Amino acid sequence: MSERTPASHYFSDHRDQPAPKSAPKRLEVMVDGRSLELASDTGVFSHGHLDDGTALLIERGASPAPTASNLLDLGCGYGPVALALAVRAPSAKVWAVDVNPRAVELCAANAAANELGNVHTVQVDADPELSGLDPDVRFDAVWSNPPVRIGKAALHRLLLAALERLAPGGSAHLVVHKHLGSDSLQSWLNAHGHPTTRRLSRMGFRLLDIEAAP
Ligand SMILES: C[S@@+](CC[C@H](N)C(=O)[O-])C[C@H]1O[C@@H](n2cnc3c(N)ncnc32)[C@H](O)[C@@H]1O
Repeated sequence: MSERTPASHYFSDHRDQPAPKSAPKRLEVMVDGRSLELASDTGVFSHGHLDDGTALLIERGASPAPTASNLLDLGCGYGPVALALAVRAPSAKVWAVDVNPRAVELCAANAAANELGNVHTVQVDADPELSGLDPDVRFDAVWSNPPVRIGKAALHRLLLAALERLAPGGSAHLVVHKHLGSDSLQSWLNAHGHPTTRRLSRMGFRLLDIEAAP
């Protein structure tokens, strides 16, 4: 097995080393009977396939409210969640953010190829979290298959930064595998003023629904 350098992780911002050689693959994602064709690439999470957790979030996660104005896909990768939200909430602006520039480019290209003009991509910085994202926007809801592999402390900071940007009455919807700490994350969120419940559990994945802090 080859050693992976830190910059080869899917969550790298590729600032220190170039992105791995491109090798695009296409895949189909079905959303409410509509077929979306997406491109993925090396150096981006879940290259060549739809992650099982992401599929569960799309199929069984909370639907966006028809009145929503701004929705956030936190850690968009090549864009499956953002594009699903854009299909379901055509009048909302779907903000799709990631630290990985290749992911952001792919997500933007995938939105354009599927004629989803309501997806707005932003490459954010990790330090401080979500820098580069318009600080004045408040989100009606946040969806994420979050980057648990960045480590617990960094993940907590990132989630708090996103939850702080929820509009009053807003909510967040996460998919996390139990082997990657879903249950302790749920306890941590509850202990930090964000009421969190388990919507469902399947194949070890938990879908968590989080309320904005009162
Ligand atoms: C588990 S992947 C999910 C990707 C995509 N949503 C999907 O379901 O296929 C998490 C994503 O979060 C991104 N990420 C890591 N750290 C981040 C940060 N500090 N801010 C925003 N995105 C981050 C990673 O680059 C990665 O694309």
